[in-house]
Amino acid sequence: MAADPLGWWRRQSLRFRLTSTASAVLALALAASAWSLVGVLGRSLTATIDETAYLRANQVRVDADAGRLPPELSSPDGTMIQVIDARGRITHATVGTDRLVPLLGPAARAAAVRSDGARFLDGRPYGIPGPLRVLAVSADGGRTVIAARSFAEVETSLVTAGHVLVAGTPILIVLLAGASWMIIGRTLRPIAELRRGATEISDTARSRRLPVPEAHDEVHSLATTLNDMLARLEAADARQRALVSDAAHELRSPLASIRLQLEVALGHPEGQIWRETAEGVLEDTLRLSRLAEDLLALARLDERGGSPARREPVDLEDLVRQSVERYGEAPVPVTRDTGGDDACLTVTGDALDLGRVLTNLIDNAVRHASGEVRVGLRGGGTTAVISVTDDGPGIPEADRERVFDRFTRLDSARSRDEGGAGLGLAIVRETVRAHGGAVHLEDAGPGLRAVVRLPLAAGPVPDRLLDRFPD
Ligand SMILES: Nc1ncnc2c1ncn2[C@@H]1O[C@H](COP(=O)(O)OP(=O)(O)OP(=O)(O)O)[C@@H](O)[C@H]1O
Ligand SMILES: [Mg+2]
Repeated sequence: MAADPLGWWRRQSLRFRLTSTASAVLALALAASAWSLVGVLGRSLTATIDETAYLRANQVRVDADAGRLPPELSSPDGTMIQVIDARGRITHATVGTDRLVPLLGPAARAAAVRSDGARFLDGRPYGIPGPLRVLAVSADGGRTVIAARSFAEVETSLVTAGHVLVAGTPILIVLLAGASWMIIGRTLRPIAELRRGATEISDTARSRRLPVPEAHDEVHSLATTLNDMLARLEAADARQRALVSDAAHELRSPLASIRLQLEVALGHPEGQIWRETAEGVLEDTLRLSRLAEDLLALARLDERGGSPARREPVDLEDLVRQSVERYGEAPVPVTRDTGGDDACLTVTGDALDLGRVLTNLIDNAVRHASGEVRVGLRGGGTTAVISVTDDGPGIPEADRERVFDRFTRLDSARSRDEGGAGLGLAIVRETVRAHGGAVHLEDAGPGLRAVVRLPLAAGPVPDRLLDRFPD
């Protein structure tokens, strides 16, 4: 198997990777600065030596030109001087300097005078350990002044500085790597706490939250965001559980009633009450199947997550007419309100689902109305407004939002016989929302008005509607 160095690197902990990257960058930076420090130090020390040698040589040359040269030259700063005449003989020299052999031969002397700079010279042939910096200036009468200074001290300083840096840099790197390791570990600790908190959240401890660090940093906002998410999940979970228990509860009473009726019928084998029993059982079965259908409708709405099952043009005018026609036999008259304009009102969505919205609202209105139910439809700009109004007892303002919750019934005693499970308005609200609209209940004084707003379809009007508006 081929080794994958990047793969290895990626498998290491974040702490290790951060520390080693920081240390590597630091090591490179320190090495580069040590290198340039030694270079700058060497150059500036050499320049100082050359400067001193040049000043001494120049002074001797001035003295030589003025004829003031003593036979024995003094050397207060250790600079070696040789004065060489036109024939190449040493006429003057500092104490301790070779008086027979010039430090630079004729050719080298001429080159040194021309180049106007100092050069290195091995001092050993002249009995001086280590290298020398040598320069030459010309004086009157073809004479040359040679000045030389030992380079040994500079060399020692540079070597010492090098040793200090070579030994100090790794120590510094190790110290800084240790500090980074600790600081990064401390920084990552809240993340480890988060992880531990997350592992402790089990199915049974649902309301657990992740530990939020005190510092208001990125980990803090991560923890609060995750906690918000946990709260939302917990609420969704609670809703789901409540739904299951409500549904089970709702199923129990028709089932118990069916069982009771069958038991009573079986207790009277003469068969007189079988017809009554069958009617009762049928009624309960219809109730059960309506409940199952409503639950299925809600489950589908949940599944689709807020979008309609289909996206087709739905003509609201047709939909309202058909819905109203179905209530011809209702205990109270259901009429179409003729107040609205006759504009072409088309929305995009699912005709069946929107039909169910109207049915649920008209069912409620018919159940509570004392005289009549009116269904209105009008268009307002980009919205269509459907209203279902009855003249019944209405709903107190405090309950007008609550009734949209699943399994919420207000007049519980009555509705258990006549009404359904309390899912009708929940289905209405979720369907309308999936179609991008909104629904609310308002006082119709007397009675209640349910108002549904739906966004009108943008784009071309369907062909079958164009017939109505020839222009
Ligand atoms: N037009 C109305 N007038 C007075 N009260 C109403 C009206 N419509 C609904 N309500 C109240 O709101 C409650 C919830 O209505 P919803 O349609 O959700 O359930 P339901 O009619 O009881 O049962 P389902 O619709 O599932 O058969 C009803 O039980 C009733 O108390
Ligand atoms: Mg209802």
